[in-house]
Amino acid sequence: MDMTPESQPSMAMAAATSLGSLELAIILPTLNERDNLAPLIDRIEGALGESGWEVLVVDDNSADGTSDEARRLSLSDPRVRVIQRIGRRGLSSAAIEGFCATAAPYVAVMDADHQHDPKLLVDMLASVKSGEAEVAVASRFADGASMAEWGRPDREKLSSVANMLARKLTGVELSDPMSGFFLLPSATARMLVPNLSGIGFKILLDLLATSETPLKVKDFPMNFSARRSGESKLDRAIALDFLAGLYDKSFGRIIPTRFALFGTVGALGVLVHMAILYAFMQLASMNFSWSQAVATFGSMTFNFWLNNFLTYRDRRLKDADKVFWGWVSFIAACSIGAFANVAVATTLNDRGLHTVFAALVGIGIGSVWNYALSSRFVWGR
Ligand code: GDD
Ligand code: MN
Repeated sequence: MDMTPESQPSMAMAAATSLGSLELAIILPTLNERDNLAPLIDRIEGALGESGWEVLVVDDNSADGTSDEARRLSLSDPRVRVIQRIGRRGLSSAAIEGFCATAAPYVAVMDADHQHDPKLLVDMLASVKSGEAEVAVASRFADGASMAEWGRPDREKLSSVANMLARKLTGVELSDPMSGFFLLPSATARMLVPNLSGIGFKILLDLLATSETPLKVKDFPMNFSARRSGESKLDRAIALDFLAGLYDKSFGRIIPTRFALFGTVGALGVLVHMAILYAFMQLASMNFSWSQAVATFGSMTFNFWLNNFLTYRDRRLKDADKVFWGWVSFIAACSIGAFANVAVATTLNDRGLHTVFAALVGIGIGSVWNYALSSRFVWGR
């Protein structure tokens, strides 16, 4: 080796690399994972050695005190960092937060519940560092992979259909586009962030579908273990989230996903309205005004419930008093929307627009108002 004084700085740099300058950030999105953290960090150290990595716990204000536990760990171990988010939710957006909060050149995302084995990180990092792959994906479906517990055949079936659709969407051949365990250069991730939809938890799929040139992916067969403690948060939302993500990637730029859902719910609300109207007039022989009033309240209540369940599932109001006040403010928001609707439709109709078109424009304007007001005042924070 050249030992002239000129080469000193580069030797110092080489030393810094092997002695562990920061290379890899491991993002752990967490929602009630307190007891899983310390043992997971031990396992990460077991796999990666003492240095060269950091863990970013991105916690959405878990009720079990995961953030405090992460802070406690961080005090004695500066490799552990904490991002506690209040009033925000979601696995994808937590990962994005992590991409943007690290100086490490490589980032990995993995579950904090021990279903993903940190040992795989070594090969994943090597492959991306060498340029063999642009994204390393730990796969539950690659040859040699296994699954400790699956237990839900419906989810398995859903998964294979979803994988097929995802492949079509991203143009990338990969066995597990839904994987929550992957690694890539952090600059690549950050470059894609502005165009990610950030909805739901399909962050990998989102990254791959967003990249203009298909990213070179390498699969790493993984043994998907059982969750160590606590319970899964994704089971029930999985299909819904996936469909929303698919829609978002295909048409989201024309009509935003949330507005499309809101509109669909609104259209269903019209059916509910008609059904109630019919029931009260025909079956209960109530007069039109009263029936119309009941139908209006009924359909608004239905719309509130379905929007809370579907359109705003990531901000769902759950406690009884929040649901009650949410319902009240939704009805208030709808009344303002209805006012805009009638005002616009009447004006247009007066100016000679055909009744049907005037009514449709009114409905359109009213819906935009309802949407804007309720996303701000009912489900906003
Ligand atoms: N910050 C944050 N916010 N973290 C979350 C949220 C959230 O809203 N929801 C879940 N997490 C965290 C969990 O605490 C866990 O560390 C990780 O994200 C995965 O959540 P699980 O609830 O354990 O998900 P799963 O085991 O059902 O789903 C796994 O398999 C899916 C494929 O079927 C995950 O790996 C998914 O990413 C994967 O798509
Ligand atoms: Mn899990």
